[in-house]
Amino acid sequence: MSFVTVTDVFQSYGARPIIERVNVTVDEGEFISIVGASGCGKSTFLRLLLAQEIPTRGSVSIAGAPPATEPGLDRGVVFQRYSVFPHMTVRDNIVAGESLRRGWGRFFGAGAKAARARADDTLARCGLDHVADQYPATLSGGMQQRLAIGQALAARPRVLLLDEPFGALDPGTRLSMHDFLTELRAETSMTVFMVTHDLHEAFKLGDRVLVFDKPRWDPHDPNAYGATITYDFDARNGGIPFQSLKENTHVLQAN
Ligand SMILES: Nc1ncnc2c1ncn2[C@@H]1O[C@H](COP(=O)(O)OP(=O)(O)OP(=O)(O)O)[C@@H](O)[C@H]1O
Ligand SMILES: [Mg+2]
Repeated sequence: MSFVTVTDVFQSYGARPIIERVNVTVDEGEFISIVGASGCGKSTFLRLLLAQEIPTRGSVSIAGAPPATEPGLDRGVVFQRYSVFPHMTVRDNIVAGESLRRGWGRFFGAGAKAARARADDTLARCGLDHVADQYPATLSGGMQQRLAIGQALAARPRVLLLDEPFGALDPGTRLSMHDFLTELRAETSMTVFMVTHDLHEAFKLGDRVLVFDKPRWDPHDPNAYGATITYDFDARNGGIPFQSLKENTHVLQAN
């Protein structure tokens, strides 16, 4: 049974359609890369998975139920610009990430000590144990992104949503972040959705690559139609498109 199921989802802002007829199923543990032109609704799609947006039509389910509206319970998220707390030390940022799941109340006394020990484990995994007592502003961009990912992981999410997580990093740091993410995946059974503008990165890291595009286009009114998933590539099998999306495209062309 699929873990994430998106069924016939439409999302509009006011009268303007952003995404339309999105159908996709994802198994637990799959790594899904998402590519597409700027403004075509990739971040909107992630917000639907986060339940920050409720679809105008259609449904999203994760593990058989609509996604919870509380952040951090089952989904962690990392954006392009790091989203850590600047006034907290590196270690406290990890503790804060975990508290999203457990609630702040548990982190007094012995609980706080145990939480710090767990945070140090996460920091070691992210290669940040040597800067645990520093503040984020003193870290490089790559370290800050590792911290943001560590913070998301501290809540032990079943789904990790990454919105252009490496977009602001230099090429060398980006490559080391690829290794980091690949190692993390080997250790956990997380399902990952990653938006990227880098096709090479999409195919390198993803099991599947979803392409968002507008199959219907009115040159006199570019905003008349929304985008949908036009290709679903099997990145582990030579980039062969799955059959299901051809059906999806066919439906759109028939209209
Ligand atoms: N809350 C909102 N209200 C109105 N319009 C919005 C809202 N959020 C996004 N949009 C519009 O929806 C469209 C899709 O936005 P979205 O951020 O999902 O695109 P994207 O594919 O992530 O783009 P990029 O690659 O530039 O990040 C954009 O035209 C944007 O202006
Ligand atoms: Mg975006």
